[in-house]
Amino acid sequence: MKGVILAGGLGSRLRPLTLVTNKHLLPVYDRPMIHYPIQCLINAGIDEVMVVTGGEHAGDFLKLLKNGKHLGLKTLRYAYQEGEGGIADALKLAEEFADSGKICVILGDNIIEGNIRKAAADFFTQKSGAKIILKEVPDPHRFGVVEFADAQRSKIKTLIEKPKNPPSNMAVTGIYFYDGDCFKVCKDLKPSGRGELEITDVNNYYLNRGDMTYETLEGWWTDAGTFESLFRASKYVAESGANHLDLAGSRPGLFGTGVR
Ligand code: G1P
Repeated sequence: MKGVILAGGLGSRLRPLTLVTNKHLLPVYDRPMIHYPIQCLINAGIDEVMVVTGGEHAGDFLKLLKNGKHLGLKTLRYAYQEGEGGIADALKLAEEFADSGKICVILGDNIIEGNIRKAAADFFTQKSGAKIILKEVPDPHRFGVVEFADAQRSKIKTLIEKPKNPPSNMAVTGIYFYDGDCFKVCKDLKPSGRGELEITDVNNYYLNRGDMTYETLEGWWTDAGTFESLFRASKYVAESGANHLDLAGSRPGLFGTGVR
């Protein structure tokens, strides 16, 4: 399975920092933000990766990541997103790279404590469709949120993007698994109220098709797209100590053998 990291956007919530570089290259504790999703993919056994970015600082990615070999990647490709069409618009650029196969998509500002190895292995054996990763949060209005069909939370009714009145505190993290149909789904989407193609609409497509599984993430999860969450990400990484990124079973990557 290949991995796609979506690292575009203007990072307008992080101005003035993002006037001089891309959001995903800003520091999270002692690493550039983009290193964490790369490590997350490597930990899941995924070493063929495409980074989709855009904007005037796109060249900075090449300076930092080069061909990815020194990070433990087998291949690293880049795609350039023109304009600000949203996450599902950026995903379209990975169609050729995916080559009709299954992919793991991760938003470049999502950082996790644990790993997604089991989810990736489960999706690998899933016949078709999609898988999403959920996490309970105190501020669900900032995310895609799950509306459950029943009080036992056994079934998802729908997913709502940044609801004013969240129906639950279960957020959809920015880690998704898709089959090869996702590109057609993205192409058929209509822009949302904020003028973007929403990844939540892609997920609702699979949910309505009855072809979506989900898992709940262990350990902490944070985005890093606002000053508050960027600070929190650095704090979590700094405080979670030697094994904040679980490298057991993966080959040495960005963080050596897991001891920091
Ligand atoms: C995006 C998605 C949202 C998801 C979040 C995770 O939001 O649209 O559904 O919960 O990432 O980080 P963003 O904060 O990029 O607007």
